[in-house]
Amino acid sequence: MNSSTTPPAGDGLLLCDAADLPERGKAHCFEVLQYGQPASAFALRYEGQAVAYLNRCAHVPTEMDWQEGEFLDGDKQYIICSIHGAVYDPLTGRCVTGMCGRIGLHKIDVQEREGKVYWYPSRDTKPAFED
Ligand code: FES
Repeated sequence: MNSSTTPPAGDGLLLCDAADLPERGKAHCFEVLQYGQPASAFALRYEGQAVAYLNRCAHVPTEMDWQEGEFLDGDKQYIICSIHGAVYDPLTGRCVTGMCGRIGLHKIDVQEREGKVYWYPSRDTKPAFED
């Protein structure tokens, strides 16, 4: 899991405008390669922070949004998997309740600067346009 507190190195890859991530609003979805396989990821804003995760439930490796970009529960408090209801903390990706166990979501480093949001590939999570 790429969730260290060390700031990511380099400039990152442009993901979207900061304004594209409204507070507790619809997520911005993007494609990545996870361990060399195509996968989807999402970024959203919660308590002012841009956060991003692989769109993959810790319970069963399936996409979680009930409609594209809709990851939050009815109260906009938690990320919820639409399949069997696992609930995750939006800021940490940690499992709060449900069948996600202690595994949590796979976090992707993002950084916001000058009105733009950038994401940072890791050893495991790479841009979709790379082999
Ligand atoms: S697949 Fe997400 S809660 Fe089971």
